[in-house]
Amino acid sequence: MAKNNQLVRRYLRVVTVIHQMDHAALPVTFLYALTQVGGPYINLAFLGILINRMTVGTNLHQLLPLMLLYLGLRFGLAIMNQWLEKMSSDHQQLVDSRLDATTTEKLLTISYADLDDPQMRKNYAAIQRGTAMNGGLTALMEEGLVNFFSLLIALGFAFGAFAMLLRMHVPARFGFAQFVNSPVYVLLLAVLLLVPFGLSAMAVPKGDAIMQAVLKKIIVVNAVYTYFLNLVENQHNGPLIRLYNARAGIIHEERTRFATSNAITLRGDVHSTAYVMLPSIVASIITGVLYVLVGLPVFGGVLAIGTAIMVVGYLEQFMMSFTAFMKDVADYNNMVGYLQYYTDFLAIPDYRSGAHLPVEKRDDGEYEFSFNDVSFKYPGSDVWALRHVNLTLHVGERLAIVGLNGSGKTTLVKLLTRLFTPTEGTITLNDIDVQKYDEAEYRSLLAVVFQDFKLFGYSIAENVAASAAVDTQRVWQALDVADVAARIHELPAGIDTAVGKDLDANGVELSGGEAQKVAIARAWYKDAPLIILDEPTAALDPLSEAAIYQRFDQLIGNKTAIYISHRMSSTRFAQRIAVFKDGALVEMGTHNGLMQQDGLYRELFTAQAKYYQ
Ligand SMILES: Nc1ncnc2c1ncn2[C@@H]1O[C@H](COP(=O)(O)OP(=O)(O)OP(=O)(O)O)[C@@H](O)[C@H]1O
Ligand SMILES: [Mg+2]
Repeated sequence: MAKNNQLVRRYLRVVTVIHQMDHAALPVTFLYALTQVGGPYINLAFLGILINRMTVGTNLHQLLPLMLLYLGLRFGLAIMNQWLEKMSSDHQQLVDSRLDATTTEKLLTISYADLDDPQMRKNYAAIQRGTAMNGGLTALMEEGLVNFFSLLIALGFAFGAFAMLLRMHVPARFGFAQFVNSPVYVLLLAVLLLVPFGLSAMAVPKGDAIMQAVLKKIIVVNAVYTYFLNLVENQHNGPLIRLYNARAGIIHEERTRFATSNAITLRGDVHSTAYVMLPSIVASIITGVLYVLVGLPVFGGVLAIGTAIMVVGYLEQFMMSFTAFMKDVADYNNMVGYLQYYTDFLAIPDYRSGAHLPVEKRDDGEYEFSFNDVSFKYPGSDVWALRHVNLTLHVGERLAIVGLNGSGKTTLVKLLTRLFTPTEGTITLNDIDVQKYDEAEYRSLLAVVFQDFKLFGYSIAENVAASAAVDTQRVWQALDVADVAARIHELPAGIDTAVGKDLDANGVELSGGEAQKVAIARAWYKDAPLIILDEPTAALDPLSEAAIYQRFDQLIGNKTAIYISHRMSSTRFAQRIAVFKDGALVEMGTHNGLMQQDGLYRELFTAQAKYYQ
């Protein structure tokens, strides 16, 4: 029962989403369903009237208006049906594209911590897989909604027909036909109509369970299958696959998963169809019995034969609509199951820090950042990425951070930039918890070159300015600081050249190092009081590296800077060096001071220096 309630709630949420995306979608689809299933009802009604007229001996001439009315109605219905089919499919598309757009916007408005959450990513992948497999919302509207509305319409007609039978009273002289007057007669009719109901209720969940089990199995298989497809589609994997001769292995994996997934689906389909067919077979047998039962009041002289045919027809239509709907209900449940990920995803709250404290504007750049006993675990992880970190950034200083891979250096930057919130402890700016500041104002204080920096497909100028409003002179200056101005100058369109060919066929494919230089220019352009370079020179040749550090360090003047680097030589630009190990700050001091200790820093430095001697 609780499970059914949950299912009903899911359907209601999906219907609400449809309505939110486009108010016209539901009414238009209902009208389409009406014109779609209306034909047989009109046929049955006219057939009934025709037979009734003929049994009382009407001539052909008198039937002519009736025939014309019939033809007119069918003609009108056919035209409306064609038109509404187009309309409803347009509206369904509209709902689908709006939902897509809403989803994309959601990705932009949730917090970075939510975006990076592995569970969130899993659900998001399920949305896409589910849509690809089941057709998503459009399929649900095209089939499920239309079938559901048809069922409602059939229910209306069946009620009318049934009410008509309830009012029958056969006079005493008609013997056995008086059975019609008995409550048992009505009860029998009702029970017969309910039999397909009961059978469906029993058989469909069985078929449903089979399909659920299938889904559970193939979701695992398909995830792997999709992984391999994406792997191959991404051209960046091309060199690796070719060099390591991974082709045969990947093709084998891909074919095996594909075959397994197909075999599981096929077996499940055959198995579940057996259950699903039973109610419709029984419904046709019941229709035969209905003819006998509804024939009784005809014998009793209280129901015209044409009306009886119409009544049985309507009841049969109802049973057919019902079993047809139930037959596919497992599919609809599946789709609604997937769409639940949509509704769940859309229900993630937008990121609003709720903090509006303005950041004090200071010309002297006196912004002091402090980590106060900060510990952090990534969402969904049990491991401390940072543990009890205490660290104050002195105004105007250059701090170098070194440490082995995975020691928590980048994590520190992600916390400082408020992409994540510390699990324990606080980070302060001028003694106030950074979480309390207005987010945009706070972030305007920081310029970061991330380790996995990204450039967009816009022009180089827009990339450097991180905006469409560009100060051209400053862009060139920034490119010069980053030692890439000469290269950009050679390009036919200069700083207006697009990065990559995704948005512009004339875009330039920058080398890894050139791209990194543009990212450094972007950080310099921002003119923020705190600059963080996380592995800014990993892709740079030694000459560029030395040149950039030199110029960068000079030009940022009295700003505060954090340099994270695996090249120990970069520490000579820093007044202090922080050494991280397993998420903890283990050493702190000047180069000379740390070299005198027998610690990690000396070990790292001498290990690297050895190769340069
Ligand atoms: N998004 C994430 N989710 C879960 N764990 C993460 C995530 N990012 C990093 N980690 C983990 O946190 C730890 C610290 O990672 P971090 O990226 O801060 O290391 P790092 O010192 O910058 O290393 P590197 O020198 O390789 O850049 C690592 O164990 C890493 O596996
Ligand atoms: Mg890192």
